[in-house]
Amino acid sequence: MIPEATKARFVREVAKYPADQRQSAVMACLAIVQQDLGHVSVESEREVADYLGMPPMAVHEVTTFYNMYNQQPVGRFKLNVCTNLPCQLRGGAHALDHLTRRLGAQVDGTTCDGLFTLQTFECLGACADAPVMLVNDRSMCSFMSDEKLDQLVEGLRAAEGQA
Ligand code: FES
Repeated sequence: MIPEATKARFVREVAKYPADQRQSAVMACLAIVQQDLGHVSVESEREVADYLGMPPMAVHEVTTFYNMYNQQPVGRFKLNVCTNLPCQLRGGAHALDHLTRRLGAQVDGTTCDGLFTLQTFECLGACADAPVMLVNDRSMCSFMSDEKLDQLVEGLRAAEGQA
């Protein structure tokens, strides 16, 4: 169930569109759900659909089209490594491999402590900075050498008091 405090954040997004086009706020509302609840469940999709007056399937189509939406619970930190060609040519595969070994987690897997989920991602639009990755859908990390990857992981662990 989406908490009322989360739904209250929808109001501002819906207000950006004409009254008869509130469905245009669907992506923003789903992003808010994910920020507050960690993932977008089918139940949440139904509630967003009700709120915006659109069919649940239309909301589900959005959630499943864009891979930034978590359809399942993820770890505290979601690490997305770009694996498109420009990054692959400049160490993207190595960065991903390094993280799997460093974290002891497979791609699309979550570490046993629930701290990290490791995923691949499509081009993040920063190919010149390869290898590139994204943390929790928001923080872009560039030129990710083994050393920088280790620093990132340790920094995130420290932030959670698990260094
Ligand atoms: Fe990785 Fe473009 S291919 S950012």
